[in-house]
Amino acid sequence: MNTGCKKYVPFTPVSLPDRIWPDKRIERAPVWCSVDLRDGNQALVTPMNVQQKLEFFKLLVDLGFKEIEVGFPSASETEYEFLRALIDGHHIPDDVTIQVLVQAREHLIRKTFEAVRGAKNVIFHFYNSTSALQRKVVFKKDMQGITDIAVTAAKLIRQLTDEFEGDTRFRFEYSPESFSGTETDFAVDICHQVMVALGATKEDPIILNLPNTVELNTPNTFADQIEYFIRHLPDREAAIISVHPHNDRGTGVAATELSLMAGAERVEGTLFGNGERTGNLDIVTVALNMYTQGIDPGLDFSHIDHVRDMCEQYTRLQVPERWPYAGKLAFTAFSGSHQDAINKGHEYMRESKSPYWEIPYLPIDPADVGREYEPIIRINSQSGKGGAAFIMDHNYGYHLPKAMHPEFGAVVQLECDRTGRELQAEEVLALFTREFLNISEPYALSRAKFYEEAVAGSSANITHFSGVLSMRGKFVQLESRGNGPIDAFFGALGQAGIEGYSFITYSEHAISMGSDSQAVAYIQLRAPGGRRIYGVGTEHNINFASVKGILSAINRFENGKF
Ligand code: KIV
Ligand code: ZN
Repeated sequence: MNTGCKKYVPFTPVSLPDRIWPDKRIERAPVWCSVDLRDGNQALVTPMNVQQKLEFFKLLVDLGFKEIEVGFPSASETEYEFLRALIDGHHIPDDVTIQVLVQAREHLIRKTFEAVRGAKNVIFHFYNSTSALQRKVVFKKDMQGITDIAVTAAKLIRQLTDEFEGDTRFRFEYSPESFSGTETDFAVDICHQVMVALGATKEDPIILNLPNTVELNTPNTFADQIEYFIRHLPDREAAIISVHPHNDRGTGVAATELSLMAGAERVEGTLFGNGERTGNLDIVTVALNMYTQGIDPGLDFSHIDHVRDMCEQYTRLQVPERWPYAGKLAFTAFSGSHQDAINKGHEYMRESKSPYWEIPYLPIDPADVGREYEPIIRINSQSGKGGAAFIMDHNYGYHLPKAMHPEFGAVVQLECDRTGRELQAEEVLALFTREFLNISEPYALSRAKFYEEAVAGSSANITHFSGVLSMRGKFVQLESRGNGPIDAFFGALGQAGIEGYSFITYSEHAISMGSDSQAVAYIQLRAPGGRRIYGVGTEHNINFASVKGILSAINRFENGKF
């Protein structure tokens, strides 16, 4: 028995038996605040330099962030320099508020006020740690001692704001850091005392930012804490409730979504979840999750590959291939049954003209995030018959009849097994062309003509065929007639001694090839011995396309392609 786990003390959830959040829905986007340039940056092996931070800031503005935490200017020279570069270089749009973080300590607070001089809109964000563990182990203070730190800082911030010269509009944010490990009643009390010290009002509300600094339990327990906090906070209207989830248990997204259901109005996080340890909350995922529920997140991820590439470049971290929405494999289906269903979904959308996105296995239209359908289906030995047919249809305009899918799928599968890798779309086309299309050995028509003859007293015509067939290097003149072109041609084949084939099915459509348009005919024959075999022909004229399709099927059989 492994008793190692006994050293961990289980989390004690807040008691909220009458919780109402589980029945709530997320109905609108929260205020988003990016902390990429602070929490994200401080967690990088090589933090960004001033130029990189300026470029990242511009990216965040372009994505639509209106609140951006730009750093910890009292903590490092680079952070200070970056902030000054932003302000002095006039890089901050009027509708964007920069946020600066500072510990609840006097000299750092004073330095931070100096650092923001000249900015138009500032969120002055201060914090101290409040959890039972931090009080005991790090600060060695009781609740009152911790409250004093926060309230003293709040009073100083109020005073320095009142004395501040210039046009800067200040708003305030307080974080009881390690909130999730803090007794929730204590968190309410300390936050309320900070609100009073700062003079928060409904007109000028404080942001109370409740961090899941370390995820300690399942996301529902965090949502309980948020609902409990909101229900017990006096002057609720004088506060904006913000959450700042981290991802230690891998449930940062879930904790955020449940906390929004529990009443949070603002979310702090980073792009793709960069941040301390296992990261901050991934804003991209939460925003696009909302998008797929019909809610405009207010952030623009319509070029997600670009956003991912930029983040990878600045952070030197890789977004994993299976990351929601942004991973390189996020829109790739390997399994044959998934591919079939996606294929059917596309067909359904095309035929029904449904205004809704109704494609199984694809919770979002890849085009909405600037991704393409092309890489959705990858052809490997697991992909089954539908995948290859989808590629032929979607990429090249060949609508292979259903009955042909297994035969073509088997050819593709064989090639995957032979090469031991997945096939690119062009390789699928090359296989189709090599194995099915206009196959002209051993039999090919070198000249051919069809003409119709009216039959007296009948509405049906007789079709005449006349042509020259090349048969293993010999040329044979053929003349025959039938009740249609296919019938007439079969008659001619009999004359040439090519026997034992009968016609099963036929389908055709037009296909554009560059500026040209041609007919494609898919012909299924029963070959000697009963075997069913497909051949495909293309020509400008549908009759000749059919004849070529018949010869392709026969030639495939003669060549042992079955
Ligand atoms: O994770 C955290 O608690 C923080 C605070 C400073 C907001 O980053
Ligand atoms: Zn954090």
